[in-house]
Amino acid sequence: MNVTEVGAGTIGVSWTTLLAAHGHDVVVTDPRSDLVEVVDAGVRQFAPSLDADPDELLGRIRCEPDLEAAVADAAVVQEQGPEDVDLKRSLFARIGAAAPAEALLLSSTSGIQPTTIARDLDDVIAARLLVAHPFNPPHVLPLVEVVAGERTADDTVARAAEFLRGVGKDPVVLHREVAGFVANRLQSALFREAVHLVRSGVVDAEELDRVVTGSLGPRWATGGPFLSFHLGGGPGGLRHMLAHLGPGMARRWRDLGDPALDEETVDALATAAEVAYRTDHYAELTEARDRAQVAVLRARDLGTTDTDRRGGEH
Ligand SMILES: NC(=O)c1ccc[n+]([C@@H]2O[C@H](COP(=O)([O-])OP(=O)(O)OC[C@H]3O[C@@H](n4cnc5c(N)ncnc54)[C@H](O)[C@@H]3O)[C@@H](O)[C@H]2O)c1
Repeated sequence: MNVTEVGAGTIGVSWTTLLAAHGHDVVVTDPRSDLVEVVDAGVRQFAPSLDADPDELLGRIRCEPDLEAAVADAAVVQEQGPEDVDLKRSLFARIGAAAPAEALLLSSTSGIQPTTIARDLDDVIAARLLVAHPFNPPHVLPLVEVVAGERTADDTVARAAEFLRGVGKDPVVLHREVAGFVANRLQSALFREAVHLVRSGVVDAEELDRVVTGSLGPRWATGGPFLSFHLGGGPGGLRHMLAHLGPGMARRWRDLGDPALDEETVDALATAAEVAYRTDHYAELTEARDRAQVAVLRARDLGTTDTDRRGGEH
């Protein structure tokens, strides 16, 4: 299938590598002057975590700086340009005019609603546009949140989910649009309390990370908050858990922090991260992250099946 990636930053190069690893022919477009170099370097960095040969992948990837030429033969267009609503609107107006009439139009935006992006588009183009929000890095993590806008056709949602499953993703279709979608709302809630705990001196940033990677991280890799609490309640399940420990948790909700993300806070947090993790070995750290996440996902898939999680077939 011909797929066009619009935007070759962190997310675009990751998608590009994944799609090529699944045998798609990928055209990448971006006005940056180092487009060829950045795609080459990214594919070489990400291919090993997909057990793929980077030269073989690069053989299926073409860089094309001209947007209209890049989308002319696309069956699917994935947009991951900067998070700017006016830019995304103008990109999709141009993509809609230049791409084939049946092309799927997907935006990787982490927060802009599909109805907002599609505001000025003709109905036939808006019907084929939706948000397919990946979780970084898309070449590793399975989740893609699929969000339809008010004018997105049902068939577009079904086609997008099928396309995403075909490249190993686990699409979750949201029932309605919501600011920030689901995963980032959850992440924001946890990070808000993390900032509060670090800023109020309970733990430092590196200690807070250890608390998460030694507890919630592995727990949530194998069962989300609902399954985890359902089991945490013993044989009585979530009903017992919430009757027993729910009141304490609800009291804690009222005590959670509400930190400001002002200049001083940003500087203090960034300094703490730079001291703990440095800034001069990004490639090394991201390669280590990818290896570890791939290992966790493989172990998870070996250890449990969907049937196990549901407690057997009913
Ligand atoms: N980084 C993340 O964790 C993450 C996760 C999920 C979704 N997203 C979303 O993906 C999108 C891109 O994020 P990113 O982190 O890859 O940003 P980035 O800054 O790394 O990359 C953006 C790219 O867009 C390019 N660009 C600028 N103008 C363009 C144009 N007119 N046409 C095509 N490309 C253009 C830039 O040159 C750059 O290469 C955003 O909408 C963001 O919300 C990011």
